[in-house]
Amino acid sequence: MRNRIALFSIFVVMAAFSLFGEARNQKERVERGKYLVSTMGCNDCHTPLTMGANGPEPDMSRMLTGHPESLVMPPPPSLPEGPWSTVVAATNTAWAGPWGVSFTANLTPDPETGLGNWTEKQFIDTMRTGRHLGIGRPILPPMPYFMIGAAHDDEIKAIFAYLKSLPPVKNKVPQPIEPVAAK
Ligand code: HEC
Repeated sequence: MRNRIALFSIFVVMAAFSLFGEARNQKERVERGKYLVSTMGCNDCHTPLTMGANGPEPDMSRMLTGHPESLVMPPPPSLPEGPWSTVVAATNTAWAGPWGVSFTANLTPDPETGLGNWTEKQFIDTMRTGRHLGIGRPILPPMPYFMIGAAHDDEIKAIFAYLKSLPPVKNKVPQPIEPVAAK
């Protein structure tokens, strides 16, 4: 009987250690993801720019929430023939070019309007294939999925873990507009 109690205690202690280890790993993964997201420039396009004292700056109160739902864009101006090909909203969140109009996604874990219902695998597959959730429509410019998809699995997982750790923000980003309809 005493042996059994001793064994059981050892088991409980080991389980507690492994739980503690897992929590610590997760914390490290989120920290690494935060570093990668800030150095890989996700905020450039996924956090709306606002006009500050020294020019446009990211509005961190809307960090990674994508194109603001409240900002309804008029049709983009058409450009004359020539080397200019793309126009971009002052927020840096809506882009018009030969692919039509694209709007940057809400990367917070809101289940309805953000990445809340995405699995880690879907996130990796999206970056590796350049298709929505790895199977859907092609991802449009200027989203640099190929650059993110060139990172190691554990780095893409860390990015996802960090995004999932953010406070969820409800912000419904419009669907992209086809080139013809955008004219
Ligand atoms: C140069 C601008 C730009 C940068 C930098 C950028 N994105 Fe994007 N991202 C976009 C645009 C535009 C879209 C919408 C594309 C579309 O609708 O096809 C998008 C869409 C996404 C989507 C949604 C894809 C889908 O299948 O719906 C995810 C997830 C994403 N970006 C993650 C990231 C992460 C993570 C980073 C940084 C590592 C990042 N993006 C950097 C412009 C950018």
